[in-house]
Amino acid sequence: MLANKRIRSYITYMKNKPVLVVDSGIGGLTVLYDLVKKEPNCDYIFFADNLNAPYGNKSPAFVRNKMLENLHMLCRKYKPQTIVIACNTATAVSINTVRKTFSNLTVIGTEPAIKTAVEENKKNILVLATPNTIKYNKLLKEYKSNENLNLNLLQLPNLAMDIERNIDNLNILQKQIKDTLSKYIGQIDAIVLGCTHYIYLKPILRKICSTDIKIYDGNNGVCQQTLKNITRKNKQGKIFVLTNKISAGGILISAWNYLQKQGVSVCAE
Ligand code: DGL
Repeated sequence: MLANKRIRSYITYMKNKPVLVVDSGIGGLTVLYDLVKKEPNCDYIFFADNLNAPYGNKSPAFVRNKMLENLHMLCRKYKPQTIVIACNTATAVSINTVRKTFSNLTVIGTEPAIKTAVEENKKNILVLATPNTIKYNKLLKEYKSNENLNLNLLQLPNLAMDIERNIDNLNILQKQIKDTLSKYIGQIDAIVLGCTHYIYLKPILRKICSTDIKIYDGNNGVCQQTLKNITRKNKQGKIFVLTNKISAGGILISAWNYLQKQGVSVCAE
């Protein structure tokens, strides 16, 4: 994390248009982390809208307005080559508007990996996501009407912020997660993580769930799509992590350290 002044002076060296990755908080860092692993030779700017988090239970209009406000500011300042919405919630409620507004840029969104789970023949699926993602994601609506699927959509209004607050000691959430899942264990063969924050819980979920339950997330899809769209590379890729809430800086650092400790890729199952 760099102080604002320093960021400004560094930014002037960011001659190659960066890839801009945004979320309400640490969730999007999981996407950034995988992107950097797969394509280190590129400049990245990550912006966490901690000031307005969580997005999951705010009105869609509020989230859309904040997304537009932030993206206008970030695009004006940093002239990105691509925008990555590393947030299922923001994607569900704002991607159409963002694409229309920033029509000169490729805008990549994040969606629950329900399609992959179904393609792998999973029939009893539990999707964990924020209330806005469950309500407004089109894919989930589509699959919900599929009679061959036992699709459970579970809204978790507080979990993203619980993760954010406890990033230094996620084990504290184990009992709460176990209680939440107890009704479904034994009846499902897949869990789809429909929020980028939930990816930090993978090690805990692996402890709670038997190995015949596969855990999916949308990060791999977002990364693949983003990598296809990276046109401006830079041999010494730089990463800048920005937030509009100073007190969230430590949480972002802890989250980044956590991801590094996990090793190769948090997405790998
Ligand atoms: N990380 C965001 C997502 O993927 C949600 C967190 C929030 O509620 O702000 O949906």
